[in-house]
Amino acid sequence: MSAHVLLVDDDPDLLRLLSMRLTAAGYRVTAVESAEAALSHLAMERPQLVLSDVQLPGKDGLALFDAIRAKHPSLPVILLTAHGTIPDAVEATSRGVYTYLTKPFNGKALLETIGQALALGSPTDHSKSASANESWREAIVSRSNVMAELLAEAKLVAGSDASVLIRGESGSGKEVLAQAIHRASPRASHPFVAVNCGAIPESLLESELFGHIKGAFTGAVANHAGLFQAANGGTLFLDEIGDMPVALQVKLLRVLQERVVRPVGASQAIPIDVRIMSATHRDLDAAMAEGEFREDLYYRLNVVSLTLPTLAERREDIPLLANHFLAKLALKYNKRVNGFAPEAIKALATAPWPGNVRQLHNVVEQVSALATTPLIPLALVQRALRVPSVEVLTFTEARLRFEREYLVDLLKLTDGSVADAARLAGRNRTEFYRLLQKHGLTPGVFRADGPVAE
Ligand SMILES: Nc1ncnc2c1ncn2[C@@H]1O[C@H](COP(=O)(O)OP(=O)(O)OP(=O)(O)O)[C@@H](O)[C@H]1O
Ligand SMILES: [Mg+2]
Repeated sequence: MSAHVLLVDDDPDLLRLLSMRLTAAGYRVTAVESAEAALSHLAMERPQLVLSDVQLPGKDGLALFDAIRAKHPSLPVILLTAHGTIPDAVEATSRGVYTYLTKPFNGKALLETIGQALALGSPTDHSKSASANESWREAIVSRSNVMAELLAEAKLVAGSDASVLIRGESGSGKEVLAQAIHRASPRASHPFVAVNCGAIPESLLESELFGHIKGAFTGAVANHAGLFQAANGGTLFLDEIGDMPVALQVKLLRVLQERVVRPVGASQAIPIDVRIMSATHRDLDAAMAEGEFREDLYYRLNVVSLTLPTLAERREDIPLLANHFLAKLALKYNKRVNGFAPEAIKALATAPWPGNVRQLHNVVEQVSALATTPLIPLALVQRALRVPSVEVLTFTEARLRFEREYLVDLLKLTDGSVADAARLAGRNRTEFYRLLQKHGLTPGVFRADGPVAE
């Protein structure tokens, strides 16, 4: 079943042109010339998307949007504006409008935007006829220009076998990007294997990556194919490559140069055909300068480098991502939440997001779990955004605080007996007294029968 789009524009020529375009792209189109006509149509049938001009006789596009929002909060609305006056993206989307397009618009961009809006509005709807060629980036929800540029580059490198190094802050989407590139690549029908080089103990990483043969070391009870072999024909994603021990970096470099792996304990090398992508949130240039990362490996891995922008650098994606996560969570937990109150979206859009998209997902998960109304209110969002204030102490301050609390605990335990407390602490009495003095502690106040004068 093809998606149904409701078009609203008072310019009959444009209306006809748009109808033709969308019909040709496989959509079912209803075209009307005013907001009022759109609303009467909506009373009869709910489309999957509304595409409306802003300037309309009578009710304008924004008023139409407000009316739609009241009745169909999850129906995506795209507004068309003839004047170069695009309101600030955050402001516009904070009202809940999916996005604005400026006239004259580019036909390809229009279809892409419609495809994305539809993918968002109906996660279960697989009739993606119009955006089938975009399915590689399905998992990446975005409407920002910085991401669009990055994705265009990603699409280009996907076609080659070049090694790609993906940089970006924690939670910014490095792994989803690596997966998307794999999906867009000629290797898509082969495996995508991800390994977190920072999470596997050094002693195991070599055999994880390259495999081992039976008896190669204690515990090697059978032959074991490594991840390189598992990824053969496909892509191996080396996550947190900056955490790879230097000794293993040498071996990895050899594998990449010779295109063979030698399992631990094996005498025979096995040819492999694997495309390497890697990611790190560490500064590899600094690691190289410190001698912690090999330069020759760096140049092998970093044939193409892609950098994920932080979420704060693409705030216009926030409302979109938040609604996307909310829709998915609502489905998963079968919960009736339709969206965010406009002030709630504004609060999300302006928050600092040090944990990027992952943090946004966590916040949305928290608010949707706590929501008692279909529209998430501002208060819930504020509560979820309130990061428990982590007090950052210097090492010296932390040690002093620890010492003091430790001594207090000991004195409480021993009812203020310095002799007992000193024994438990493994110190002699003189040393222990000195410690008490340093922290201004009087043992007498801890005596069960109350403070006595020292
Ligand atoms: N553009 C996006 N659209 C939808 N979901 C996203 C997007 N970017 C990231 N995510 C989601 O956010 C979470 C974090 O993404 P991912 O694991 O790719 O980040 P990362 O950069 O690899 O983080 P880390 O450095 O912590 O490993 C995942 O659940 C991912 O699905
Ligand atoms: Mg990751």
